[in-house]
Amino acid sequence: MSEADATGGFGGAARGDASLSGNPALVGQEAVRLEGVHKSFGVLEILRGIDLSVAPHEVICLIGASGSGKSTLLRCVNLLEPVNRGRILLWGQDVTAPGVDENAVRRHIGIVFQSFNLFPHMTVLRNITLGPIRVLGVPRDQAEEAGRALLVRFGLSDKRDDYPDRLSGGQQQRVAIVRALAMRPGIMLLDEVTSALDPELVSEVLGVIRELADAGMTMLIATHEMGFARDIADRVCFLDEGVILEQGPPRQVFTAPVNSRTQQFLRRIVDAGRL
Ligand SMILES: Nc1ncnc2c1ncn2[C@@H]1O[C@H](COP(=O)(O)OP(=O)(O)OP(=O)(O)O)[C@@H](O)[C@H]1O
Ligand SMILES: [Mg+2]
Repeated sequence: MSEADATGGFGGAARGDASLSGNPALVGQEAVRLEGVHKSFGVLEILRGIDLSVAPHEVICLIGASGSGKSTLLRCVNLLEPVNRGRILLWGQDVTAPGVDENAVRRHIGIVFQSFNLFPHMTVLRNITLGPIRVLGVPRDQAEEAGRALLVRFGLSDKRDDYPDRLSGGQQQRVAIVRALAMRPGIMLLDEVTSALDPELVSEVLGVIRELADAGMTMLIATHEMGFARDIADRVCFLDEGVILEQGPPRQVFTAPVNSRTQQFLRRIVDAGRL
């Protein structure tokens, strides 16, 4: 069976330049769907049955204590970690099925971590154009034009020819987000993208994420920034020991949490002055 047969699109459809989310055949599909996802490391069961449906253009913030499984969930969606049980569907296609081309799937998912992981020996523009040129086969001049436009959009055009070590942490993280965007992903996964930053640099990165949300990017965001989650999320999911214990619009989850564990978690956050 060919890749395309096995995946119903990932492999085949994902090779081209079209964003899967923009594929007319897939309009109306959920962007992401997790069904009964279980993930263990050895005997430790980290995700214990996650069900989650993400609509196109929806912004979901995953909150919860350290170790509750937020990063693991994001890594499973990006197929960096294989799930033990359950399924993950992207635009209706089961990407956890045997025979799926994982790299083809990942091309449609932008993921940004706490550590920026920019290539230190390449300028900002080279960092941004490398993926489109090498992975998507975009001609260099087109990739550079698109890269320059992205840098203008995110207020980084004067950094275009700088090397990462000349940039502040906030600027580096913005470049990392732009680099992910340059691959024209259908969805972005952001994992604690502000936690390595000095407090005064956090807001510029949050501003970039807000702009992405306003532009309709579908996003799954793991964050300890509760104020930000409250402002930006369409829906907040509270993870506790590998299950989503409570979810809903931020107003509801933050002001009137139903579950006692959510209440406890939020009380600690409030007591720490972080909400
Ligand atoms: N590769 C791995 N091998 C073994 N255990 C792991 C691995 N990755 C994560 N874990 C464990 O899984 C649990 C959940 O980790 P995860 O990083 O998903 O939590 P988190 O909610 O993102 O926490 P934080 O808020 O600190 O980022 C932790 O107990 C962690 O030690
Ligand atoms: Mg984490």
